Amino acid sequence: MKLKEFFVQHKQIFQLSYGIILIILIPLLISLNTLSVVGKYNDSIELSLERRALALGRSLAVSFSESLDNTEMLQGKIDKLTYENSDFIDLQILIPENNSFKVVAGKDKTNVNKFFESSHYSYVWSLKEREVVVGKSAPIFDQDKESFERFSEKDRIWLVGSPIYNNNGEKEAILNFQLSSKIIDDAINNNKSSSIILLITTIIIVILFLSVSVRIWDYAILYRKIKEVDKMKDEFIAIASHELRTPLTAIRGYTSLMMEGTYGKVTVKMKEGFKGVMASIDRLSELVEDLLNVSRIEQGRLKVENQSVQIKPIIKEIILSLLPSAQEKKLVLNYKEGKEKLPKIIADPSKLKQVLVNLIGNSIKYTEKGSVIITTEVEDNKIKIKISDTGVGMSPEEQKHLFEKFYRAKNEKTEKIIGTGLGLWITKQITELMNGEIIVESMQGVGSRITVVLDIEK
Ligand SMILES: Nc1ncnc2c1ncn2[C@@H]1O[C@H](COP(=O)(O)OP(=O)(O)OP(=O)(O)O)[C@@H](O)[C@H]1O
Ligand SMILES: [Mg+2]
Repeated sequence: MKLKEFFVQHKQIFQLSYGIILIILIPLLISLNTLSVVGKYNDSIELSLERRALALGRSLAVSFSESLDNTEMLQGKIDKLTYENSDFIDLQILIPENNSFKVVAGKDKTNVNKFFESSHYSYVWSLKEREVVVGKSAPIFDQDKESFERFSEKDRIWLVGSPIYNNNGEKEAILNFQLSSKIIDDAINNNKSSSIILLITTIIIVILFLSVSVRIWDYAILYRKIKEVDKMKDEFIAIASHELRTPLTAIRGYTSLMMEGTYGKVTVKMKEGFKGVMASIDRLSELVEDLLNVSRIEQGRLKVENQSVQIKPIIKEIILSLLPSAQEKKLVLNYKEGKEKLPKIIADPSKLKQVLVNLIGNSIKYTEKGSVIITTEVEDNKIKIKISDTGVGMSPEEQKHLFEKFYRAKNEKTEKIIGTGLGLWITKQITELMNGEIIVESMQGVGSRITVVLDIEK
């Protein structure tokens, strides 16, 4: 089967799979993209918060160093700063005394002059000038409970510490403060929720749009219906043509008995009539056979048994059987067999006969005067059987549709010729089952040359 035909036959399946893939893939890509953008945005916010805490620690350490000897002024600065910035949870200036740290000024005034011991304070004290330590969610000592209190993950805290050097460049105190990122976090969470709502809305719109545009459900239903109807049609044709065969055989039998005079004397006029009846019976039998072949091919029940075959005797046998119909039209029907011995080919002999009878039969049928000549030649491990006629020929447009089921060229030359348009379709299918090919060359009013190409036995 050619690739194009395969695609045409399985069009519905491809459309359906295409739709399903689109509907899964596009929303998935949009979600992945949004989540990755939100993730990256979060990372960069974290980084900028950390930098902000660092810069703040550094500048506050410098600003407080100027008022170290004046605790009142120091406390005043802290009060102003923490009043104006709600981000500060706590802010303290501590000086080391007797192996612990004493609060000299702070946001929480109840802590002033109290002593605290903490490895964090010792660590900050060990830092050099302008060095700042920034950490997240560190525990904070609660004076009342006399224990360290942990902040919840939701209320993220940045713990910042830095040593304070006096004007003589001596380390004198430490600055310690807790900065809440709640305001920024709230803003980010707001943004996150709105982008997730936007994402869900986009996905719903995309899914709706895609399902409408690929008409996925329609196709699914239509596809099943078409399959069912197709199957019913095939079964109907198969049963009907099979059932037609038996009465046809009976009609043929009785008619020939009548023609022979078994049922009484037959006049010349009656004989004429019987001949007409017989011709119609033949036509009907052919049609029934064609329909049976079509349903066999469509249901994949037509089997070919390829074997090695001598081609010359087959052609000669067919010529002999078709000679009367050619002679009736005063046509020359001839096989120019050539002297050389032809190699055997790979084919199913009875199916090959059917193919050649159809093609040579067509040439006789569509030729008014002149000849139908058959030749054979060997080329590239193939045998080419060429049937050339001097008949009505076909236009390029007609040649395009030639192998379609029920196609018949409609022009004044062919309109009186009886046929169903199934012959060539069946012929092509059978030839392809034998691994062969049919090539058509034709010119309207001049004639046609049909070539059957088959494999030589290796
Ligand atoms: N040798 C030829 N010369 C000109 N036209 C041809 C020739 N062979 C086929 N055709 C055209 O191709 C059409 C299809 O051929 P096909 O054999 O399938 O059908 P048919 O001969 O009309 O009917 P049937 O099914 O009885 O064979 C014909 O109707 C005819 O118009
Ligand atoms: Mg035909």
